[in-house]
Amino acid sequence: MALIDKHVVLEKNATLLLIFSFLVVTIGGIVEIAPLFYLDNTIEKVEGVRPYTPLELTGRDVYIREGCYVCHSQMIRPMRDEVERYGHFSLAAESMYDHPFQWGSKRTGPDLARVGGRYSDAWHVDHLVNPQAVVPESVMPKYGFLLNREIDAKYIEDRLSTDALVGVPYTSEMIAAAKEDFFAQLDPDADTDGLLERYGDKVTIRNFDGQTAVTEMDALVAYLQVLGTMVDFSTFSDEEARASR
Ligand code: HEC
Repeated sequence: MALIDKHVVLEKNATLLLIFSFLVVTIGGIVEIAPLFYLDNTIEKVEGVRPYTPLELTGRDVYIREGCYVCHSQMIRPMRDEVERYGHFSLAAESMYDHPFQWGSKRTGPDLARVGGRYSDAWHVDHLVNPQAVVPESVMPKYGFLLNREIDAKYIEDRLSTDALVGVPYTSEMIAAAKEDFFAQLDPDADTDGLLERYGDKVTIRNFDGQTAVTEMDALVAYLQVLGTMVDFSTFSDEEARASR
């Protein structure tokens, strides 16, 4: 009896068939997944990508709480129409410090992966307060209440520690200075040397919502303005990144 004829045994016994199918899927799975844990280039290193500042991270939490991801994706696919509209396609490294990532799968509104720097802060505030005032046909809800929700960064050290726990490289110095950095980013007259030293001199420092009070609007706009701006694409080439692996 040829080996192939023995297959009949599996075909006639449901339990055996299940056991063997399970084995095959397990082996296949291990072969595909296990190497990813050992390769150091699963995510290519890209210059410029840094953890969010405490203020940006807070804005990101507001973004998630308000469910912006329900209508907005943050992943530009490497297809011509997307690249022409939104800019360079998203790199894995750009969301490596996102827990959870915001790639999304629904685009009622445009992709926001590179919205940073595209509009002024005032535009964002006006748009969030009343999207229809800026884009009359918009179906985006109004978020003006964010201007009245003051924040005091009470839990910001814990927030950074939690991300550090899952692998974001926040140092103990960053965590200790989290509150200081949080407020420093909102005040160009403050002592911002520490903030810039810890997060790099590309960090934008200003009063994002234009009010004296520190609000969730400040944090959200700070977050929107950093999206997609960490990597300098005038110096980045995916050919080089690929070759250096
Ligand atoms: C019900 C779906 C919906 C939700 C929820 C939503 N948006 Fe939008 N958003 C849209 C649509 C549609 C547009 C395009 C029209 C416009 O500009 O208002 C848009 C546009 C935008 C733009 C301008 C993008 C560009 O490139 O022009 C930004 C920024 C934005 N939304 C941010 C947010 C944020 C932040 C939140 C959460 C606080 C949010 N949106 C929630 C639907 C939504």
